[in-house]
Amino acid sequence: MAVNIDRDGDIAIVTVDNPPVNALGQALRQGLWDAVEGLDADASVRAVVLICAGRTFIAGADVTEFGKPPMPPHLPDLVGRLEQTAKPWVAAIHGSALGGGFEVAMGCRFRVALDSALVGLPEVTLGIVPGASGTVRTPRLAGVEAAVDLVTTGKPVKAAKALALGLVDKVVTGELRAEAVTFAHDALTRTLPQPISARPVTSPDPAWWDAQRQAIAKRAKGEVAPLRALDCLRMAAEKPFAEAMAFERATFLDLRASDQAAALRHIFFAERAAPRPAHLADAKPRGVRSAAVIGGGTMGAGIAAALRDAGLPVTLIERDAEAVKRGLLNLRNIFDAAVKRGKLTEAEAQARVKDVCAGSDYSLLAETDLVIEAVFEDLAVKRAVFARLGQTCRPDAILATNTSYLDPRLIAEGLPNPDRFIGLHFFSPANVMKLLEIVPTPATSPATLATGFALARSLGKIPVQSGICDGFIGNRILTRYRAEAEMLVRQGTPIAAIDAAMRGYGFAMGPFEAQDLGGLDIAYLQREAARSAGQDVPEALCDILVRAGRKGQKTGAGWYDYAPGDREPTPSETVVALLANRLTPGPSLSAEDIAGRLTAAMVAEGKAILAEGIALRASDIDLVEVHGYGYPRWRGGPMFEAERMASQRSV
Ligand code: 3HC
Ligand code: NAI
Repeated sequence: MAVNIDRDGDIAIVTVDNPPVNALGQALRQGLWDAVEGLDADASVRAVVLICAGRTFIAGADVTEFGKPPMPPHLPDLVGRLEQTAKPWVAAIHGSALGGGFEVAMGCRFRVALDSALVGLPEVTLGIVPGASGTVRTPRLAGVEAAVDLVTTGKPVKAAKALALGLVDKVVTGELRAEAVTFAHDALTRTLPQPISARPVTSPDPAWWDAQRQAIAKRAKGEVAPLRALDCLRMAAEKPFAEAMAFERATFLDLRASDQAAALRHIFFAERAAPRPAHLADAKPRGVRSAAVIGGGTMGAGIAAALRDAGLPVTLIERDAEAVKRGLLNLRNIFDAAVKRGKLTEAEAQARVKDVCAGSDYSLLAETDLVIEAVFEDLAVKRAVFARLGQTCRPDAILATNTSYLDPRLIAEGLPNPDRFIGLHFFSPANVMKLLEIVPTPATSPATLATGFALARSLGKIPVQSGICDGFIGNRILTRYRAEAEMLVRQGTPIAAIDAAMRGYGFAMGPFEAQDLGGLDIAYLQREAARSAGQDVPEALCDILVRAGRKGQKTGAGWYDYAPGDREPTPSETVVALLANRLTPGPSLSAEDIAGRLTAAMVAEGKAILAEGIALRASDIDLVEVHGYGYPRWRGGPMFEAERMASQRSV
């Protein structure tokens, strides 16, 4: 039964129990509707507490219903009915009250939240707007500015902030049900506040709305829901309640059926499926109570920070005392930056560094459960590290490499118990980027693989399993993408036009700007290494630039010129001259053609990766691109988009 009713004296307790997250499917909506009717008719009930079983308050509408026709009772009607109850309802919130869940809470006369709770309206992250009065009641409850922030960003707020904004009436600790009952008794001794729909709202002036529109358009980069949400909020601030409700509902239904919403739902479900792959259902992960990182450079320090953020004790091993100092400084800088961004307090940052045990002596690793290697991308150096790990670590310690391109089988050669070896490919900055490619070798045991996935969960990362190939899933597609971008340049398309087209498509940066930021020399050195190993690697345009000393922003010159101290790219005459005799101009391409060519190259590589079994499913490739390479989330990833376009063509 999704809705249970019991009593505490003259207070009725309505408990929603619809695992896993109490989503508002049709049966639950009906159950709540019936509860409202029944309790209104029960003269012995003076007030009602609405509370949820399980890990959370109602987490929102049931997203799995979004592809289907809406079924009554509709959520806006339920929220409206709740508001008209003869007795006051008190929403008792734990976990998260999100989307439709928070809208139901706004239908109640009061909201009481546990101090650990979150409330929010995340609909825009699913490509829709709130569809059950979120844009209309929130401004009446907390004012227009708070509502615009909450709805257009989709970011939930913690209970204390929700209280300060007026989104909840009281924050409590301890026993939520008892606290809510006490609150209900108190409320009955006072005049009830007006239902939210009857409260006044004051609209800011048009200039304020225009400024919001500009700021949101800049942030949204092609995503439509945040701007449509702003339209709804403005309607709510300027028009009568019923008119604004009708506008919100029409917008909600329109967006619910949109390509962007379908794409965002695809990513939503892919993200939730990724951490628990079906083929590992029977594999038991090893417990990881301590971790170590070898190498304290860019990646090693970032990985150590991610492990510390997850509360694990960390040992950091570097080459010598000087390098240990540098590694610790790299780590300190990461936490300092987090303090500057307001993510950590100074005391927390200090504790995270202080608890790291750092040195150059491998005997520090004798008891460690998991070791992640992040030393130079050089097979001999890595093999020497694993030889020492094989001698010093426990025989059952999990040993991982963060290599970007090297073959993990070669790195692990000669390692005792190779079943505990695995690739864990983090992305830079490793404490921020959500993607973790998990690369088993043929010798890796299911328990080791499952440990990789469990680690990803505890670090808050999105794990994707990849087979072994040059660059694994992500960097292999990146190589193809860059090669196609260079092909466009060879055919006469200006570098700046290619970058602008990809920004217009929704990427934060185009391929050449991104390479200038990261440095052109990394890919160049990798190609050079392959050439000196006898492989036939054709000349890339990038090679010509690196040989001319143009390694990107760090040398003040790459695909673009950079004025000293300025990160603004300026199209470069020198580059045009350097590449002149490699170009054979073809027809000029529109931004849409350019994006079409580059995404088609990604899709072709993605299909090859799937066909070879390097990726297990197309949605994994989408997760890699969205979480590792800035592919616009609202497009659902290259594979989803290609599939959608193919099915639209066949209709
Ligand atoms: N509908 C359907 N299923 C949902 C769901 C939803 N709204 N939210 C979560 N689930 C499912 C997940 O797919 C997952 O299923 P699985 O176990 O089969 O993989 C399961 O619930 C657990 O989800 P999580 O792994 O995310 O659980 P957590 O405990 O880590 O997080 C949560 C809980 C914070 C509630 C998180 O699930 C979440 O953010 N959910 C989405 C909330 C949301 O976006 N709500 C708005 C919906 S739109 C709406 O309400 C429109 C309205 O205005 C009309
Ligand atoms: P880096 O050059 O910044 O750091 C490497 C560190 O390893 C240096 O601090 C060095 O002193 C240390 N080191 C070298 N030999 C060592 C040894 N024998 N024992 C202990 N420490 C040793 O390099 P970066 O960028 O951190 O890369 C490390 C690894 O991560 C490489 O395999 C790289 O391919 C991979 N990687 C890099 C990414 C990036 O964006 N930089 C992204 C993902 C993976």
